[in-house]
Amino acid sequence: MAEGSRQSVIIGLLNGPNLNLLGTREPAIYGTDTLADIVQRLEGVVRELGVELRAVQANGEGTLIDTLHAWRGEVAGVVVNAGAYTHTSLALRDAFTATSLPFVEIHLSNIYAREPERRHSLLASAAIGMVCGLGASGYEFALRGLVTALRAKR
Ligand code: DQA
Repeated sequence: MAEGSRQSVIIGLLNGPNLNLLGTREPAIYGTDTLADIVQRLEGVVRELGVELRAVQANGEGTLIDTLHAWRGEVAGVVVNAGAYTHTSLALRDAFTATSLPFVEIHLSNIYAREPERRHSLLASAAIGMVCGLGASGYEFALRGLVTALRAKR
């Protein structure tokens, strides 16, 4: 991670389907923070960490994959909540491995305490780590964990 150089380190924040509806979407499960609230709080954290944030939300699998392709060589690592694609998309995991983008997976809810179809992540085996079940604060923990891991790798 090119810390100390003049070019700032960029972290990608990728949110998948239906996460644009946070705030009103099943608040008992996902809380009442909107995605904009979450991104705004992360902007404070990235300033503290001395990195930059690029935030993208998309509902389509192809757009998420295209975003990772575009981020190749541009972002140092990614915090990702792939929503339901977590449980279905081998293509998204392939996009992470194909671009060699290190990532931390985050889920607002504890996917292991939910319906059986949510208890498996196709992304997790390629991730640095995963945060789940801690609500919106999990994004901050995932971001701090990713930056710590990237700095340790240098
Ligand atoms: C989620 C969990 C997924 O199972 C679900 O499809 C989502 C949100 C979470 O953040 O808890 O869209 O990723």
